[in-house]
Amino acid sequence: MKLPQHVTIYEVGPRDGLQNEARQVPTADKIRFIDALVASGIRDIEITSFVSPKWIPQLADGAEVSRGVARPAGVRMSALVPNRRGLETALAAGMKEVAVFLSASETHNKKNVNKTIADTLRAFDEVIPHARAAGVPVRAYVSTVYGCPYEGDVDPERAVQLTGQLRDMGVYQISLGDTIGVANPQQVEGVLARVLAVHPPEAIAVHFHDTQGTALANCLVALTMGITTIDSAAGGLGGCPYAPGASGNLATEDVVAMLHAMNIHTGIDLDKLTEASRTAATFVGHELPSKYLKAHLGKQARARRRAELSTT
Ligand code: HMG
Ligand code: MG
Repeated sequence: MKLPQHVTIYEVGPRDGLQNEARQVPTADKIRFIDALVASGIRDIEITSFVSPKWIPQLADGAEVSRGVARPAGVRMSALVPNRRGLETALAAGMKEVAVFLSASETHNKKNVNKTIADTLRAFDEVIPHARAAGVPVRAYVSTVYGCPYEGDVDPERAVQLTGQLRDMGVYQISLGDTIGVANPQQVEGVLARVLAVHPPEAIAVHFHDTQGTALANCLVALTMGITTIDSAAGGLGGCPYAPGASGNLATEDVVAMLHAMNIHTGIDLDKLTEASRTAATFVGHELPSKYLKAHLGKQARARRRAELSTT
């Protein structure tokens, strides 16, 4: 199997993860979480979004989060912006990178941003050139590439076309989203073969939600095809509130554990990352789906139990 030697993990837990939580997480906890992720060695991280607080109240404190986090050299922090207003607020709050987003299917796009795909692309014309003029790189997401919660199957050509349009607009990387976690490895191969026939692998990232447990298998296929950027969320947090049935993202510790076991470097300290996820589980108030995290916590509990027994 031909695999890369290094993979960039693009951590989306503080944004994709926390946007989907029923509980309003206090700003200080969000900042603590981001700081812990950075301390684990993560170098690319989406920390919040600057969307309408009526649509995503969970991230209404984006500006405070942006101002509150430590920004060590070498760490790239990004935020999701839907329009010019989001961009202006993000820049004023100190963001140095932003991401725009749209869907491959009309119905999800409309439910998510209240616009057609064509109008969404027009709105990007008011975002991307201004961001780039301010020296701010722009990433983009294409959602529902592998299936739409409202329309079902999605033509793989949509991903190819939208990737081309976004690159022409000056976006440096397009993350292809399996928003509801329905992709299978064969489908991933099919979509990526079409996309990579026209676009270089460094311009493409993969973003899998793990609803049906296929995210790691999908990543492996992407890696064999030359993809080296994987989006994931600590603990497996995540979901899109406008995509019913969407569950958590691929868990960062699950993918990092698999990569390290295959001698692929990420620069991330798995123990510190797991600790960051454990902290997140306490402030969201429920168990997180990451398999590695569960196994790690189970091992710690068994070790504690053995230590207690040996002292009694
Ligand atoms: P709208 O209602 O059509 O637009 O929303 P509007 O311009 O009439 O604005 C509505 C209200 O929001 C107004 O306030 C605006 O001022 C305000 P009001 O006058 O009613 O008091 N507003 C804003 N406030 C703060 N920041 C802004 C902003 N823009 C408008 N930037 C809009 C259109 C796009 C704003 C809305 O639909 C929206 O915010 N949608 C965001 C939805 C979202 O964040 N979804 C989750 C992220 S996408 C995702 O998770 C998928 C991904 O992970 C990849 C994958 O998994 O596939 C990326
Ligand atoms: Mg997502």
